[in-house]
Amino acid sequence: MALREILHYPDPRLREVADPVDEVTDEIRTLIEDMAETMYDAPGVGLAATQLGIKKRIFVIDLAGDDEPSDLRVFINPELSDAAGTQTWDEGCLSFPGGNAEIKRAATIRVRALDANGQAFELEADGLMAVAIQHENDHLNGILMIDKLNPLKKRLLGRKMSKAQAASV
Ligand code: NI
Repeated sequence: MALREILHYPDPRLREVADPVDEVTDEIRTLIEDMAETMYDAPGVGLAATQLGIKKRIFVIDLAGDDEPSDLRVFINPELSDAAGTQTWDEGCLSFPGGNAEIKRAATIRVRALDANGQAFELEADGLMAVAIQHENDHLNGILMIDKLNPLKKRLLGRKMSKAQAASV
């Protein structure tokens, strides 16, 4: 396993649309292990392959608390449907270090995907799991949380990010 570099906004690779995974090979499983390790190291609760500059439709999520055993969920070629209701969370993103924003999303969602063994599964999610699935699935389509903000908040977050980049150089 290896830690990989997480791309930060406004890296143009975050805007690329990821391609479906043809087959869940050992190479894909190694990528998934690296994604999980990189997410835990950050630390974060979700990470999409797009955030590592890899154009594959894969994301990982782990919402377990600090004192709970890990609960890694792997989603390959996810398809979302049956979005219903609305909820608003104060979201963060590993590609926007230090920047978070309140984002409105569906309250419940259904997702079909393949797991790390290539097995199809289906999940109905609500609460934070529904938020995380929608956030990570957006990454696979080149959509970022900043896109969901009104012009004023977009400018504030964008300015915060360019300052963060200047400071980290
Ligand atoms: Ni994100």
